[in-house]
Amino acid sequence: MDKYAVWGNPIAQSKSPQIHTIFAQHTQQNMVYTAILGSLEHFEQQIQDFFTQGGKGCNITAPFKERAFKLAHHHSERALTAEACNTLKRLDDGSLYADNTDGLGLTSDLQRLNYLHPNQSILILGAGGATKGVLLPLLQAEQNIWIANRTLSKAQDLAQKFVQFGNVQAVALDQIPNKSFDLIINATSTGLQGEVINIENKILQNATALYDMQYAKQSDTPFIAHCKQLGCHNLSDGFGMLVGQAAHAFELWRGIMPQMEWIDIT
Ligand code: ATR
Repeated sequence: MDKYAVWGNPIAQSKSPQIHTIFAQHTQQNMVYTAILGSLEHFEQQIQDFFTQGGKGCNITAPFKERAFKLAHHHSERALTAEACNTLKRLDDGSLYADNTDGLGLTSDLQRLNYLHPNQSILILGAGGATKGVLLPLLQAEQNIWIANRTLSKAQDLAQKFVQFGNVQAVALDQIPNKSFDLIINATSTGLQGEVINIENKILQNATALYDMQYAKQSDTPFIAHCKQLGCHNLSDGFGMLVGQAAHAFELWRGIMPQMEWIDIT
């Protein structure tokens, strides 16, 4: 049986084993997928051991995406621009290939929700690793992007790096243009502290749709709860993005693209 795993710290909350097990059942793949707590000190050695002992591939989640990227011998363009990977695959010669399917997971979910059409205006809140991981596929989907971040210089650095791929600019939180964005994406880590980013309510209220890259099963994320209180419509958390990134990783490993509908996303 082929061995796969997701590595993170913490990892107990991960839904990836359930998602990949359902994908494997539907596509009749002979594989097992487990969740493994990565060691903050010995992550690299753990990954080497996993592959030496026959592991075929793995997903990587926080806080190891940059470290996993550095471990790999070959990288997709998406991983190279993100400078981080969420997926590793062992190639036939034993070397490791790194991909980053987070952005494709996001665009797949936005398509499922009918939120993604060419030439839209998108406001992304946050300029950390989560934003960097999704910018390339969003720009390739012909989106016009504003990145707003508490620390403006980080948004400016990202915009400068990605402007070669499309229309992207940085803006301070209190300088967000007074326009109706087609989509606002929360890519900050504020929800982890139970907080919401501090921007004017009318920016959120004027948006056609709002998406939180974080997800919470059986409840609303702080961002979604805040948007609901403001009377916003077309709200979605990031569980579908998780399913989408998993589907693209599964395709890389097994050569079969699972259907997102196999998972109950609602
Ligand atoms: P991740 O990998 O999840 O993106 P990160 O790289 O630490 O994590 O980035 C966290 C993002 O959330 C950053 O954009 C951060 O803003 P700063 O660059 O100014 O630190 C944003 N963030 C976190 N807490 C925030 C808060 N209370 N208000 C506004 N933005 C916040």
